[in-house]
Amino acid sequence: MEDTATHYKGPARLMHWTMALLVLAMVPVGFLMLEDWVSRPLRNSMFVTHKNVGVLLLLLIFARLAYRWRNPPRLKPVELDPMQKLAAKATHFGLYALLLIMPLSGYIRVRAGGFPIEMLDAIGAPSLVPRSDALAAFAKATHLYAGYAIIALIAMHVGAALFHALVKKDDIFERMWPARA
Ligand code: HEM
Ligand code: HEM
Repeated sequence: MEDTATHYKGPARLMHWTMALLVLAMVPVGFLMLEDWVSRPLRNSMFVTHKNVGVLLLLLIFARLAYRWRNPPRLKPVELDPMQKLAAKATHFGLYALLLIMPLSGYIRVRAGGFPIEMLDAIGAPSLVPRSDALAAFAKATHLYAGYAIIALIAMHVGAALFHALVKKDDIFERMWPARA
């Protein structure tokens, strides 16, 4: 059957934009909460928010991948040269990989270091990793370098989305935007 849909399905769009907004907030908060010039109480609340929202994001990303697996996007093809198609595929794959690596490495860094994740502690969820300084240090380095990588991919991704929306004026951006009546 020919693919005729002009938009990603509603749940896919809802999850994309929720995830995008949360990730775009998580990155600056992640850096700011480590800065000495930011007041201690503000840093503490940023830490609590970053850890707990990060765990919620992990659940959202699992949900997004499960949904995508059951409902693979079948969209009306847009004229693109093969290199652009490949670049988009590679960027999306890289984003999904990093969207898993970021919260998982954050979780391991915190739990292996013996620190709380308030939301999980409140429901009595046990740590899924052993207490280990070596593991915590490895996860901390992974979180930092994967953080740089996700910033680079987000910049490429948002740049490409805006290029399609504002310069090429093709249907790519519209696919992820709420359908107009
Ligand atoms: C998509 C989810 C996440 C994103 C995009 C993200 C992003 C970042 C970024 C950019 C930093 C600053 C760079 C660094 O020092 O690593 C950071 C730091 C940090 N993040 Fe995350 N994070 C996420 C999830 C989590 C989760 C789930 C936890 C813990 C439960 C967590 C715990 C931390 C901690 C403890 C730091 C400070 C690292 C240190 O000890 O120096 N993050 N995060
Ligand atoms: C202002 C910010 C953003 C804009 C304008 C935007 C726009 C778009 C658009 C138009 C698509 C559809 C591309 C296509 O049909 O080929 C898309 C897909 C996607 N976006 Fe974004 N995005 C933004 C932020 C983000 C962020 C922060 C992330 C994650 C870190 C992200 C992850 C993804 C992923 C993984 C896909 C692939 C969807 C799929 O096919 O499963 N986006 N985005």
